[in-house]
Amino acid sequence: MNERLNAITSRVMEHLHDVIAEFKVTEDELRSALDFLTAVGKSEEYPLLSDVLLVSVAVDNVTHWAEQDGNSTASNVEGPLYRDEAPILIAPVNICSVEGAEDDILFVSGQVVSSEDGSPLANAVLDVWQANGEGDYENEDPNQPDYNLRGRMLTDENGRYEFRSVVPAAYEIGKGGPVGEFLKTIGRHAWRPAHIHFKLAQEGFNSVTTMLFIEDDPYIDDDAIGAVKSSLILQLEKCADPDEMAKRGVERPFYTAEYDFKLRPETTGEARSKENSTDFVASK
Ligand code: DHB
Ligand code: FE
Repeated sequence: MNERLNAITSRVMEHLHDVIAEFKVTEDELRSALDFLTAVGKSEEYPLLSDVLLVSVAVDNVTHWAEQDGNSTASNVEGPLYRDEAPILIAPVNICSVEGAEDDILFVSGQVVSSEDGSPLANAVLDVWQANGEGDYENEDPNQPDYNLRGRMLTDENGRYEFRSVVPAAYEIGKGGPVGEFLKTIGRHAWRPAHIHFKLAQEGFNSVTTMLFIEDDPYIDDDAIGAVKSSLILQLEKCADPDEMAKRGVERPFYTAEYDFKLRPETTGEARSKENSTDFVASK
């Protein structure tokens, strides 16, 4: 018998019963809720439902509790649009293979360091993926080449990385399915503020999956999945200096953003899961 599952189920039931008593939930409402869940399953939208109920972010936070110490780069959810085996790119890295005329060119750079002593981490793997200037991911958009705006790169001997891209736009999740319909019914929108996803890996350190948000995005304080953390906001600087443009080989003004990633020396799997399950029982 699975005692943990038994304990979790009991608590979920307690909460459901409280809600039913508080709102005097009707039989019609129960039937609609069950029909909704059936439709979510048929449309394979359970991951999306978990996202918009802010459950995915909550689970990420307790799973990667070690990365929420304010010292190392905060973790965030992977989302459903990651693809492994992205092209391995060497400097000067450009993850964008088709730049739209309207797209804002963006250079992202920084350093990957140890959160313990700030020492630079050479040859750390940075795996990046993002939507384009229209808010579309390559694998959901027939107009983009395979693996556009995705790439893996290594930090140099000083732990530095740099890649060229475009400023992503906000992205509307799960339009047209039961979850989208549900959000509309309860008066919530489905927009995610513009962001760039990252996975960072280096031997001897906890791998981190996270995302960086573009400052001033209209949805930065109202993410449909509640993933924004203030430590994960990128500040963009516009550069219109002709010399800089020539140096970078671009024909129009561009943006730059700097971000340093701080990786935490490895905590073992056993220590992590032990502390986690203790947390769970203690918070009862
Ligand atoms: C979803 C899409 C994303 O790009 C993301 O970062 C998180 C969630 C989604 O479709 O649920
Ligand atoms: Fe995303």
